[in-house]
Amino acid sequence: MAKQKVVVTGGAGYIGSHTVVALHEAGFSPVIFDNFSNSKPEVLDGIARIIGEKPQIFEVDCRSKAELAQAIEACASDGQIAGVIHFAAFKAVGESTERPLDYFDNNIGSTVSLLEAMTAAGISNLVFSSSCTVYGQPDAIPVDEQAPILPAESPYGYTKQACERLITDAFNSSMPLSACLLRYFNPIGAHPSAAIGELPLGHPNNLIPYLTQATAGKRGPLTVFGNDYPTEDGTCIRDYIHVMDLARAHVASIHWLLSNPASCEAFNLGTGEGKSVSQVIAAFEKANGIAVPYSFGPRRAGDVTAIFANAGKAERALGWKCELSLEEALRDAWKWQQKLTEG
Ligand code: NAD
Ligand code: UD1
Repeated sequence: MAKQKVVVTGGAGYIGSHTVVALHEAGFSPVIFDNFSNSKPEVLDGIARIIGEKPQIFEVDCRSKAELAQAIEACASDGQIAGVIHFAAFKAVGESTERPLDYFDNNIGSTVSLLEAMTAAGISNLVFSSSCTVYGQPDAIPVDEQAPILPAESPYGYTKQACERLITDAFNSSMPLSACLLRYFNPIGAHPSAAIGELPLGHPNNLIPYLTQATAGKRGPLTVFGNDYPTEDGTCIRDYIHVMDLARAHVASIHWLLSNPASCEAFNLGTGEGKSVSQVIAAFEKANGIAVPYSFGPRRAGDVTAIFANAGKAERALGWKCELSLEEALRDAWKWQQKLTEG
């Protein structure tokens, strides 16, 4: 029997490429829709090294309903499409405050076009990449999906809230739609083979890419943003999830949608454990046997003190939970950085 296809918008990106591998390993045929605005075609070679073949790819701008319709039609001509995983978006919080129109246009525009193209093609299953940023600083941690959505701190955060709302409103209308709204905590790490990983273009803003580049001598020492927070060691607490675990959650979501038609649910995807920045540095040094050059600096505007997930709903409904440790994620992140450094 022919494998069912899964369309992966943004499948050449960081989380998308790992999900393409996980889908292939689960017996699906992943099909990438990407315009390479934040990735490189060479990612496909990395994927091929892992799964033994290049995945099908359509160079598509997901804001264009016409391009999406054409690619979906071509894709459906020789196989059944089980659903769409929508990663394609811009994701840099700081940049979104400089270029809000681009973020609204790309992140919300692509989701509107995708919903229209899916409806026209009779595809109802959608997995959407959201973020724990929708919770802001929650009153209680670990945070579950019942926590209120707080006013967004950045245009980027607003686009995630707006897309969740858009998808929920579409679900509540007469549109045939089923959706998982996946709220990622902090994805880190890389495929253990180091064939794919995160490719931050320019100055990395997130902790792990900066930490690995600083340790590799490609950047100055890491600045830890604030050690005067009301936490045990004074540094902020987050929930760092291995990207391989996160990728598996997307496969579980597709399975869930296939057996739960006409459903729309949000799921937190995290480990359930909070780690401080100082704990992450110590864990990285222990896992890799190398010292991280760093110093403490002032707080970063917009940072919440502490957030980590109650991911119980995902475990109950999707049958998914994290299996990999922080140390494994940090080992894989360093392996990937070493590969990049070697060129
Ligand atoms: P990424 O930038 O590595 O991947 C996004 C991919 O989408 C890239 O390959 C890019 O070229 C593509 N893309 C962007 N706009 C497009 C468009 N209009 N048409 C076609 N392709 C387009 O990002 P990522 O880290 O893999 O994140 C994937 C998704 O997860 C995003 O929606 C992001 O907001 C969300 N997310 C990421 C994180 C994180 O820490 N990485 C956390 C929470 C949520
Ligand atoms: C940030 C975004 C979030 C987005 C996520 C993934 C903000 C407020 N939130 O989350 O919306 O979904 O990225 O793209 O920007 N840190 C340092 N030094 C550094 C970098 C980070 O100390 O050079 C600290 C931060 O203060 C934070 C932790 O490391 O405490 C994690 O930071 P980061 O990786 O940027 O993720 P978030 O801020 O959690």
